[in-house]
Amino acid sequence: MQQIPVFKPLIQPEEISAAVASLEQGWLGMGASVGAFETALQGAVGAEGRHVVAVNTGHSALHLALMMAGVGPGDEVITPSFNNIADFQAILAVGASPVFCDILNDTLCLDVSKAESLVSSRTKVIIAMDYDCFLADHDAVSKMAQRHNLRVIHDAAHSIGSTYKGKSIGSFSDICMFSFDPVKTITCIDGGALVVRTAEEASALQEMRLIGMGQPVSVMYGNERAWTYDVKRLGFRYHMANLHAAIGLAQLAKLPQISRSRQESCKHYNTRLSAVPLVSTPNSDFVDVTPFLYYIRVPEETREPLRAFLKAAGVDTGIHWQPGHWFSLFKDTLRGDLSVTENVGKEILSLPLHSMMAVETVDRVCDAIIDFYAEWRS
Ligand SMILES: Cc1ncc(COP(=O)(O)O)c(C=O)c1O
Repeated sequence: MQQIPVFKPLIQPEEISAAVASLEQGWLGMGASVGAFETALQGAVGAEGRHVVAVNTGHSALHLALMMAGVGPGDEVITPSFNNIADFQAILAVGASPVFCDILNDTLCLDVSKAESLVSSRTKVIIAMDYDCFLADHDAVSKMAQRHNLRVIHDAAHSIGSTYKGKSIGSFSDICMFSFDPVKTITCIDGGALVVRTAEEASALQEMRLIGMGQPVSVMYGNERAWTYDVKRLGFRYHMANLHAAIGLAQLAKLPQISRSRQESCKHYNTRLSAVPLVSTPNSDFVDVTPFLYYIRVPEETREPLRAFLKAAGVDTGIHWQPGHWFSLFKDTLRGDLSVTENVGKEILSLPLHSMMAVETVDRVCDAIIDFYAEWRS
C-alpha cells in the first residue's frame, strides 16, 4: 500500500522538458526566463499596471517587502501568530519586532478588530495572510491601514488563483507576496514574487534582490549582464534563477486545471467528512478559491491518536501551524489576546491535498478517518 503524502508536487513532462531546455541553454542565473515568468505571473493574477519582481523564496520576498516599506529597528509589525515562521523571521531580519495578533475562528485569518487594538506609535506594517481557502478581510485591513498610516503586506503564499470580491489575488493589495516553494500550489522548486504599485518600488526591489547591484533588467533579461553599474543600497542574493523560472512557467500554464482539481478534492473531502461528528471541516464551497491545503479541526485529545492511526493506514498528515508565540524565540514577543489561535493550534490537522488527486485517494483518507472515529466513540 502506497503512503499518501501531505504534499505531492505536480511534475509532469512539461516541467521536465522546461528544465532540460533551460539547462541546455546554459544561462543558469537570472535571465530571460525570469522576465517571462514575471510577465506570465502578472497576467495570471490580473496585475496589469502593477509591477512583478521575482525572487528566490517567499521568505526573501517578505524580507525585501519590509525593507522596501522602510521597516527597521524599533518598529513593530502586526502579524497573525497563526502564520508561517518565514514572516516572523523576515520581521526580525530587518530589526523590527513582530506583534502577534489573533485570528477569526471561521476563516483562520487575521482578526482585524483585535489587530487595530494592537496598533502603537511604532507600528509600521500589518501583514494580512490568506490561510488556505480563506482570504483575509482585505477591505477592512486596508481601511484600518489608512486610518493609522500603515503599509499592508498581503501574504498570498496560499492564495494564488483565488478571487477576493471579484478581484484576483495579486491585483489589488498595497504589497502582495507569493511563494513558489516545493509544496506550493504552483512551484518553481523554490521561488517567490512581489507585486507592487510603482516602478520606483520595483526598481528598488530589483536592486535589493541582486546584492544591491544596479544591473538593468533590460540587460539581465536578455541573458546578459552589465559589467559596470552602481550600488546604492543594501541588498541580498535573492534573485530567481532561469531554471526555476522555466519550471514555474510550465506550472503557471496549468493554474486553471490545478485550481479546478483542488476545488473538487476539497469539496469531496467536505462532503464525506462533514458527516463525522468530531471532525470540523472548512466552511467553504471552494468556489473562486484555489485551496492550498485541506485541513480539519479535531478535538485536541484525538489529534495525535488520529495521526498515528492514519500513519499506520498509509496516510501522512501535517500541522499548519504551531502558532508563533509557542516558539522559544518568540516567548517574550508582544501580543494581544490569542485565545482563538491557542485552540486552533491544538486542533488543526492538514490532510493530503495534491493537484490532480484521484478521488480514490481522497476516499482512502476519508475512510481511515471515519474508521478511527467509529472506534474512538465505541
Ligand atoms: C503563509 C506563508 N508565508 C510565507 C511562506 C514562505 O515562503 P517560502 O517557503 O517560499 O520561503 C510560506 C511557506 O510555506 C507560507 O506558507
